[in-house]
Amino acid sequence: MTSNLVDSFGRVSRKLRISVTDRCNMRCLYCMPQNFTDWLEQENILTYDEIHRLASIFSKLGIERIRITGGEPLVRPRVERLISMLSSISKIRTISMTTNGLLLGEKASILKQAGLSSVNISLDTFKEQKFESMGGRRGKDKVLKAIIEADAVGLKVKVNTVLVKGWNDDEAADFAKFARDTGIVVRFIEFMPLDGSGIWRSDLVVSKTETLNRISHEVGALIPVSTDDASEPATLYSFIDGIGKVGFISSMTKPFCSNCDRVRLSSDGKILTCLYEEPGYDVKNMLRDGQSDEDIAKFIQKCMKKKPEGIIKLIKTNSLRPTLNYMHKIGG
Ligand code: 5AD
Ligand code: SF4
Repeated sequence: MTSNLVDSFGRVSRKLRISVTDRCNMRCLYCMPQNFTDWLEQENILTYDEIHRLASIFSKLGIERIRITGGEPLVRPRVERLISMLSSISKIRTISMTTNGLLLGEKASILKQAGLSSVNISLDTFKEQKFESMGGRRGKDKVLKAIIEADAVGLKVKVNTVLVKGWNDDEAADFAKFARDTGIVVRFIEFMPLDGSGIWRSDLVVSKTETLNRISHEVGALIPVSTDDASEPATLYSFIDGIGKVGFISSMTKPFCSNCDRVRLSSDGKILTCLYEEPGYDVKNMLRDGQSDEDIAKFIQKCMKKKPEGIIKLIKTNSLRPTLNYMHKIGG
């Protein structure tokens, strides 16, 4: 087996994002179609053994880091069991998770013990009412507590914040102050057309430049922090006095497609080589039909060759459509 995952643009994938469920205990407007009911059937969801087998194959193909996503990964029962199974794969260096934090407080310690190294916790507002209107559920304080708890048990913690014009962009400075007060990095993600209900419009996107200017003006000057990881999508800044860091993921105004080193596995066993690729390539049936690791690896390599250039191409060619894929199915 040749041992890497390279696409036709020469990009090499080293990170795998595994969505373990399409279900979620929130209903963020920017992620999930409202009144969504078209959930996957249990039997179409990969079991932990199936995920473990695929992750092992991926690791032989050069994957070194895994991120567990959803939906909301913590609504899947005993996800810590999967984490400890994945931790035993020798070539996997880190396992991280993206979560909305509602169930994290009570699980942080178990997850850490199972081998989780870091969590990205989504939080878009410090106001309970807005939390409910943007996220469809209450629980802001629970999330704030989970952030502190995760940090306390030794998980690396980052906060992900999606700013939407006119919804929560007035809170950019509060998030920056939170980063200063806690030492936790807050990353601002530009709203992408993946909401599934066609809410996205280009004038709702709050660009990195706008947020950066706002924070510099309302909180204090920021200076870029250099990182040696070109595949890290966030550009990191520090306040000039060294207290507090914020990051910006310019997914719309400066997409990092050319440095993309990710591949995704959906909860129903489809390989997605790009967020903007539908419907993906099914591997679940290969697993269940008894095909060999070797054949599955070859198939994955073939899929990678078809990895599209990315959103950058859609923007360049003016072919961006409001709804191409649902974030809750692919986990960001
Ligand atoms: N645009 C940008 N970010 C999004 N997320 C979910 N939907 C969108 C969207 N349409 C974020 C979540 C989470 C991460 C996985 O992606 O808030 O932090
Ligand atoms: Fe759930 Fe996360 Fe989507 Fe919000 S962004 S609906 S928390 S999967």
